[in-house]
Amino acid sequence: MSLYGQLADQLHQQIESGLWQPGERIPSIRQSCKTHGLSPMTVLQAYQLLESRGLILARPQSGYYVKAAASPQRISTPLQASYSGSVDINDLVFEVLQASKSRELVPLGMAMADPTLFPHPQLGRALASSMRRLDPFSTVADLPPGNEALRRAIAQRYAGEGLAVDPGEIIITTGAMEALSLSLQVLTEPGDWVVVESPTFYGALQAIERLKLNAVEIPVIPGVGIDLALLEEALAERPVKACWLMGNVQHPLGHTMPDEHKQGLMALLNRREVALVEDDVYAELYVGRERPRPIKYWDTRGDSLLCSSFSKCLAPGFRVGWVVAGPHAERIQRLQLMSTLSTNVPSQLALADMLRQGGVDAHFRRLRHTLAQRQQQMRAALLRLFPEARISAPDGGYFLWLEFDPGLDSRALHARALASGFSLAPGALFSSQGLHNHCLRLNSSHPWSEPLEAALTRLAELIRQQLDAIPSRNDKAP
Ligand SMILES: Cc1ncc(COP(=O)(O)O)c(C=O)c1O
Repeated sequence: MSLYGQLADQLHQQIESGLWQPGERIPSIRQSCKTHGLSPMTVLQAYQLLESRGLILARPQSGYYVKAAASPQRISTPLQASYSGSVDINDLVFEVLQASKSRELVPLGMAMADPTLFPHPQLGRALASSMRRLDPFSTVADLPPGNEALRRAIAQRYAGEGLAVDPGEIIITTGAMEALSLSLQVLTEPGDWVVVESPTFYGALQAIERLKLNAVEIPVIPGVGIDLALLEEALAERPVKACWLMGNVQHPLGHTMPDEHKQGLMALLNRREVALVEDDVYAELYVGRERPRPIKYWDTRGDSLLCSSFSKCLAPGFRVGWVVAGPHAERIQRLQLMSTLSTNVPSQLALADMLRQGGVDAHFRRLRHTLAQRQQQMRAALLRLFPEARISAPDGGYFLWLEFDPGLDSRALHARALASGFSLAPGALFSSQGLHNHCLRLNSSHPWSEPLEAALTRLAELIRQQLDAIPSRNDKAP
């Protein structure tokens, strides 16, 4: 059989066995050339054959995707919205984050990317030079909404992708977390309902808990995004005041919504007059040719809030983020004055300088390249080690999400992992109702190493032990 026929058959079988799920992107032509030692033409022929068999489709400038089945599979078991009422997640998040801080642990549970991937010498120089040139009055002038040059630089970057943002509607915040929390606060009163994705970033659940709000968790369709039919039902069912969502490189699944989905989502929210709080912190870590647009790009009412930061892509620890707040800008500033007062001024000046000088885009490109390579390498290892798991196929970022048999207890596994010298993020963090206790999030940003490989092998053993101890599984065994 021809080489392209063999590759097509291999991928065909993998799609049928569920390794690649409907809506997921299969490896790019470049990746497949590398993995199989084939020429781009051979891989292209294999992909065209799979297209003609109706198994995959090409999306311009994005890659090849497994064709959506009539009823796409979801990553999480619940097929309906889950109304949790009040949220109680802070203690668990605190416990897990504290436990994963030790340098002695293999950092599979780390929330940040490998810290050595960031341009610390340049950041240090920018900080020192901005301090030398600091106009003492700027410590007053850069109070909310924040440093003007930085706000203009951020607006210019949005203009480059076709989103018209006035620097006057940008407020610089202490990381994206403050931007998101203030946005939620400005839209809600205690007791209001807020929609989040399921699974969702635990920071959203923490903010909901702190503001005494109620959460509705809506399942996500992998490779697509929040289920719009279920969202529409939830909006009809409850007086939802805000939706906290991620269109790009969702945390923890890593997918980026296709543009049509973003557009449909925004149209629905505009129609129902529900405000969007968009968390776009990982957008710069995309895989592909172009930075994906935020959902806000399709906002016709203009009242959605777009939040992001430099924490994940350029300057972790500087704690500089922002919100494009539109009509809410003034109220957000007032709230900020009541909480943190303002964002650290030297950090703002240093980042404004770095953006002005250029070179930041070259860093972004290198970072994306390294993260994508490491993510692919770890995903390939996980597919070998965990054939029974469903493993996310992210569009960027540095996380992988693994879903196991519903009997798996990720919190117990977390404790055993720490005792074995590595951390992980238990799926329990990503839902206020324990919907993802059988899932794990692993950090893929660290270089491949013996300790990392040993930790993954040990994780596979721990999981096997847990799954073998589940009575219903043993009953089924021959
Ligand atoms: C999805 C998501 N949103 C927001 C944040 C907070 O970003 P920052 O560190 O800029 O406050 C994080 C950080 O982990 C995150 O993962």
